[in-house]
Amino acid sequence: MSDLTPAERRQKLIELYHEVKACHACPLSATRTNPVFGMGNADADLMFVGEAPGAEEDRQGLPFVGRAGKLLDELLAGIGMTRKEHAFIANVLKSRPPGNRDPQPDEIESCRPYLERQVQLIEPRVICTLGNFATKLLTGSPTGITRVRGRPQERDVAGVPVVLYPLFHPAAALRTPAVLQQLRDDFSGIPELLEQERAAADLPGLATVGAPEPAAPPQLDLLA
Ligand code: URA
Repeated sequence: MSDLTPAERRQKLIELYHEVKACHACPLSATRTNPVFGMGNADADLMFVGEAPGAEEDRQGLPFVGRAGKLLDELLAGIGMTRKEHAFIANVLKSRPPGNRDPQPDEIESCRPYLERQVQLIEPRVICTLGNFATKLLTGSPTGITRVRGRPQERDVAGVPVVLYPLFHPAAALRTPAVLQQLRDDFSGIPELLEQERAAADLPGLATVGAPEPAAPPQLDLLA
């Protein structure tokens, strides 16, 4: 555990946001409209990691604000959570690949340090990886999402001990009703997983302390 106060954590995330904004480590910086750093509660125990911004995310500079994002919000609401209060949402890539093509290995490697530093600052207990790219990157295994989804895995991510919880990507669920049902089923396991992890770390559960005070999403502040 780092000994950052919530204010220091937030300040460091804002500094990291500025680094991402100025980043030209890969050619995607030339074609993006806005970098998509991430948003949510910087003190959350829960993090979601998607693949890369799409057209709407690129336009707004915010993660998961298109159709897949609406589904993500609906799934969160189904377990009594909101992205603002209970989670931090980020992506493997911070810039949109043209035409929403797959992230390329060199782009993933260029962007990886930013995701790792987000994890080091936020120190989530549980990271839900959404889809193949986030899952393979953070598990360090080539095994695809269909075989690992819904099964928690203890891992070290950039020096932070976390439980990875691989889930289907919401965009895949929008295309295939059977995948949507599996995603809903897996989502229902998130509250218990979080409670287990909080108990193991001797942290108060949500039920004990009520909803935590949300830290303002760093990116929203900066764009305001
Ligand atoms: N898909 C992703 O993986 N991330 C987003 O932010 C939006 C769609």
